[in-house]
Amino acid sequence: MTRPGLASTFRPFDALEPATLHRRLAEWNHRRLNPALPHDDWERELRADAEMRLLEGAAIERAREAAQPWLADMPTEPADFVAWFEALQGRGPGENDPLFPWLAETATLEDMRWFLLQEVAGEAGFDDLVAMAQVKMPIRPKLELARNYWDEMGRGREGGMHGPMLDRLAQALDLRPAIERTVWPSLALGNTLVAFSTTRRYAYHALGALGAVELTAPWRAAHVAEGLKRLGIGAERKYFALHATLDVEHSKAWNEEILRPLAAERPDCLRALAEGAVMRLQAGAKCFEAYRATLWGPDAALRRAS
Ligand SMILES: [Fe+2]
Ligand SMILES: [Fe+2]
Repeated sequence: MTRPGLASTFRPFDALEPATLHRRLAEWNHRRLNPALPHDDWERELRADAEMRLLEGAAIERAREAAQPWLADMPTEPADFVAWFEALQGRGPGENDPLFPWLAETATLEDMRWFLLQEVAGEAGFDDLVAMAQVKMPIRPKLELARNYWDEMGRGREGGMHGPMLDRLAQALDLRPAIERTVWPSLALGNTLVAFSTTRRYAYHALGALGAVELTAPWRAAHVAEGLKRLGIGAERKYFALHATLDVEHSKAWNEEILRPLAAERPDCLRALAEGAVMRLQAGAKCFEAYRATLWGPDAALRRAS
């Protein structure tokens, strides 16, 4: 569906295959978020950024449209809204995907390595996403985002930082994440979260999406941790073992301290919170589908043999 006034934005967007679009966005995100130094090419770079932001916006607007069927029964009373949001766990897009019991019980080490390679490559860095999302937020949500960020930072200890914990698992399994070896839905998931956290018109989408991660991660992380344990991976599985329990607490606090006060004081942002959550879960569901297509599809035996 093209909206009046957005036609010129949608034309280049529609001409791109999703794989091409999301590879370009992933490469651009990698470049633009990298700490850099002044350089002579900055004007050309800013013009290119504007083109990419238009593509990014078009992709997000298209995904917003796809989320609408899930929002038909969204209540607006604060307590009902929080209950509706919490009910996404178990019944939202991609929930209870059969990929995860299979990873826990059946996957080979090679299968697990391939799955983790996709996940690591699409990982946008929860810590940075939270840090960017908290800018100018009201006090109660801002404080909870700070507490969540501090946990991501290992409460000030390098050994407890979540990002490097995942890096250690990737190193132990000799994973070498690269955009060109990543299925596009995994790149799209990372691109969506980066778009939310770096774009102020999607500020509340970011809070909904990151809240949906906290809400739904424990079930998936527990299955991955179980699979890693079965495959003989010891201390390095800590990232998944930790998120299987810690995110239960993070989710409760997120819903109480971020969603509930916003629902009471900023009813105009409710739909954005809900859209962000649904869009994040839909992006995840597409990943699981793509992973199953590779891990369970006709080429799986070939891939294992190679
Ligand atoms: Fe974390
Ligand atoms: Fe968390």
